[in-house]
Amino acid sequence: MPAAMAIDVQLSISLSSLAAARPPPLASVQPSCTTKPALPPPYTFFVLLSISKSLWRRPPIRASINRNPSMSPTAKDVSQNGSVTTSTIFEIDDSDFSRFSERPRPVNIERKRSFDEKSFSELSITMSPRPFYKNAENSSRIFQTVDSIYSSGGRSGFNTPRSENGFEPHPIVAEAWEALRRSVVNFRGQPVGTIAAMDQSGEELNYDQVFVRDFVPSALAFLMNGEHEIVKNFLLKTLCLQSWEKKVDLFKLGEGVMPASFKVLHNPVRNSDTLVADFGETAIGRVAPVDSGFWWIILLRAYTKSTGDSSLADMPDCQRGIRLILSLCLSKGFDTFPTLLCADGCCMIDRQMGVYGYPIEIQALFFMALRCALQLLKQDCEFVEKIIERLHALSYHMRSYYWLDMKQLNSIYRYKTEEYSHTAVNKFNVMPDSLPDWVFDFMPKHGGYFIGNVSPARMDFRWFCLGNCVAILCSLATPEQSSAIMDLIESRWGELVGDMPLKISYPALEGHDWRIITGYDPKNTRWSYHNGGSWPVLLWLLTAACIKSGRPQIARRAIEVAESRLLKDSWPEYYDGKLGLYIGKQARKFQTWSIAGYLVARMMLEDPSHLGMISIEEDKKMAPLCRRSASWTS
Ligand code: GLC
Repeated sequence: MPAAMAIDVQLSISLSSLAAARPPPLASVQPSCTTKPALPPPYTFFVLLSISKSLWRRPPIRASINRNPSMSPTAKDVSQNGSVTTSTIFEIDDSDFSRFSERPRPVNIERKRSFDEKSFSELSITMSPRPFYKNAENSSRIFQTVDSIYSSGGRSGFNTPRSENGFEPHPIVAEAWEALRRSVVNFRGQPVGTIAAMDQSGEELNYDQVFVRDFVPSALAFLMNGEHEIVKNFLLKTLCLQSWEKKVDLFKLGEGVMPASFKVLHNPVRNSDTLVADFGETAIGRVAPVDSGFWWIILLRAYTKSTGDSSLADMPDCQRGIRLILSLCLSKGFDTFPTLLCADGCCMIDRQMGVYGYPIEIQALFFMALRCALQLLKQDCEFVEKIIERLHALSYHMRSYYWLDMKQLNSIYRYKTEEYSHTAVNKFNVMPDSLPDWVFDFMPKHGGYFIGNVSPARMDFRWFCLGNCVAILCSLATPEQSSAIMDLIESRWGELVGDMPLKISYPALEGHDWRIITGYDPKNTRWSYHNGGSWPVLLWLLTAACIKSGRPQIARRAIEVAESRLLKDSWPEYYDGKLGLYIGKQARKFQTWSIAGYLVARMMLEDPSHLGMISIEEDKKMAPLCRRSASWTS
């Protein structure tokens, strides 16, 4: 890491008075970063953090361990291993969980829509700013609602003897909370994130860092448990990091790029903490994390939804942070598609796996971040207009060209090629011979999914879990498509869930494909790691997607499979093999997002109203543009 990247971000904490009010009143926050020595004028952030003494809270977050304090990030070539609405999300009667049992029924998380949840078609006409509260009256209503929900006692943590739904907490829940708390990283006495893995048995590589994407399930677990402070600190800290100057060799990266990860370095002599961050300049392949900025916006919205307080998101610095992220993606160029063009390895799959071009994971996160930004951004009509236009184009493109079901497969199979003009059916000139054999076996009669990638003459037919689940959560998928994705998961249970949820991608690249596409990557051998490996962290996304599409029983089955092994196996990062029977070849143990992912899945299943912080309702004004096919109708 160049010296220029070493910065010192300071949190001056002034403890505001904190009554026992619940939820904790958001204190005014003024972030400021001191950058040394590279950033021109050091500017300081003063953060007024409030500390609440809520009765229902879990025991306080423990001090973190800054392991290897002396380790310099330059010493190693670190790899990327390798609205609250006026009617709230809490309106669901969570004592009536049985209604989710067998029959597919979509969950209406936000039954009455407030104006911050207007359809983006409506917004394109009105262009009004949309704060989270219309007025103070609404905001106090939210607090009351939150209060009454939480006052009934603790929830899914280890102090909870029995949940409100009559669910007995699984014995491993308590262990999971303890392990999650052990992973908390402090910066100058304040919790700012969770370390990627607490496995001291192997080489740390960069698993001793706080990854933005990895922190999302941890953050959701804390939010669901009423612990907001760590999430707020994380959001502010990463916002500071965004303002650094980022360079790979002589090339400067866009201002809005968010780090893939950061690390707290503790100097025991000076008794001081310093932050170092990686924006891709030390990662394998030197690829910037395109997903980090999107996750940051999504988490900011989750925080705002969960706390019912928009003051963090309303801060000028946060507003600017959102705009900087989005301006990286919304600027006009040579693109002929609304999708985002990316390098291989720029997301959860952060090594070469043929996910370059227009990968589903990034497109779904992009769509979700745009929808969240539309709720969070204030008074920026020009920007809002751009977002709305892009959302329209993106949903059309994705729903039309990425969607695959039996009917669509059959039509690709019969495609004519070399078609010119506007009347072309095979617009991207995909050769039917490029259809892999496995896809004909994989495609169930009822069911479908968004394929991995679409670009000229190339369709990547692989299944990618994260992109499909996020597409459901942000309503990029129509309700019919969401149902079809669930049908597919049920029909292909052995392949996608097997003995450990959940396959990150399917199927694995083997032989020649593996050699060419991964470049002989020994970590991504067939049915291992990103190449067909099974990742417990994906459980939270599956659970959220299942609840959103009214199929929680699918999630429950998957959670049971995971529960039978996760603790016993010490929370591995991933599993290998066609069925996910084996603990991954190079998998870390005590991988934090495996732990947090499980907890979030459990808490959502117990109390589906949690879904509101991570899900966005369908925009009814957006006409489904996809042709219906047989699999959607029954
Ligand atoms: C691996 C994963 C990446 C994750 C990181 C830290 O590199 O591929 O998605 O963020 O480990 O857990």
